[in-house]
Amino acid sequence: MKKIVILGGGGFIGGHLGRRLKHEGHHVRICDIKKHEYFDHNEICHEFIVGDLTDPSVVKLVVEEGVDEVYQLAADMGGALYIFTGEHDADVMHNSATINLNVARECVLKKVKKVFYSSSACMYPEHNQLDSDNPNCEESSAYPANPDSEYGWEKLFSERLYLAYNRNYDLNVRVARFHNIFGPQGTWMGGKEKSPAAMCRKVAEQNEGGQIEVWGNGKQTRSFLYIDECIEAVLKFMESDFFGPVNIGSEEMVSINELAQMAIDISQKNLEINNLEGQDFFDKYGFKCPLGVKGRNSHNKLYKDKMGWEVSQPLRVGMEKTYQWILKQVENKAVEHSI
Ligand code: NAD
Ligand code: GDD
Repeated sequence: MKKIVILGGGGFIGGHLGRRLKHEGHHVRICDIKKHEYFDHNEICHEFIVGDLTDPSVVKLVVEEGVDEVYQLAADMGGALYIFTGEHDADVMHNSATINLNVARECVLKKVKKVFYSSSACMYPEHNQLDSDNPNCEESSAYPANPDSEYGWEKLFSERLYLAYNRNYDLNVRVARFHNIFGPQGTWMGGKEKSPAAMCRKVAEQNEGGQIEVWGNGKQTRSFLYIDECIEAVLKFMESDFFGPVNIGSEEMVSINELAQMAIDISQKNLEINNLEGQDFFDKYGFKCPLGVKGRNSHNKLYKDKMGWEVSQPLRVGMEKTYQWILKQVENKAVEHSI
């Protein structure tokens, strides 16, 4: 049994990770600034500490001597609307960098045996993601650096921070770059949701014969990894001797309109896609359409070579489970509003 600390375990990936590690018999302590919205705490951990990890005294309290593994997932983050409008840039950089500065140092002081850091595909250079059909997100393409968001720059900085602690203080780190992870118990409304959840919600909320709004021309591409495969990939990476950075994502690239159509097909409703872009988007919302890069796909050769394992579940399988869960949330909300 390992003593495990999950920072940001009140969030989507951290909650799922906690559930898996607790189920495997490990002792799990979570710290997050908020409680988990969709998991009962007993299901995901033994101890849940509500605290702000930008405060070094909280990190000191949470990361104790004798901890085997720390999973650092806490970040000020969200989907396209949160990270590409520029509205939250200063907070995203300040909050996430401060958390990472606190955590890396504390892990050295407390002699934590292994630390996982969740970076993002958003750290890859924009110039390699301009062609929606042929993006390049191979790990070796990271430099010269040119991320298209401050969120991506912070991730790049923090990757380097953990790797520097590895070189100078022997901190045993594992750095992964997640590519759009999705699934049940994730953010599905409120402005921080990513496209898979947004498509499922918009479809679930629509009546037969209606329209769903998709930002941009819908030709921008992404790949999406289902949460269970993400957790499996993280744990296999932690067991390996390789410390990365390595991509954790799917290589099944689709356009956003294909993703939207998939959600529509799953619902078995007859709905149209309304692509809202440019001036039309601005006229409706008063700010530029948050699009991000034109194309992005995970490149999994390094992960396969080092871990001898690959993700394999088709996107459609994960989208079906996610749609059913979001449909339930939408129905519950409707009931809430009606009483
Ligand atoms: P999430 O937002 O659901 O979880 C992050 C958690 O961090 C939240 O619960 C939040 O409350 C917590 N947090 C934020 N600031 C904090 C603070 N000051 N103190 C304590 N807790 C704080 O996001 P997620 O999807 O679970 O992502 C987990 C990690 O993976 C993040 O670092 C994210 O940047 C990274 N990542 C996720 C994706 C994805 O598609 N989900 C892709 C790339 C990278
Ligand atoms: N969120 C959202 N909601 N996106 C939409 C919508 C919508 O209703 N309609 C169209 N899109 C488009 C966005 O404009 C963007 O071009 C694309 O769908 C993907 O958006 P997201 O899924 O929100 O984000 P992302 O893939 O650009 O970036 C995400 O993945 C990174 C890792 O790959 C973010 O979650 C980052 O935080 C994460 O690090």
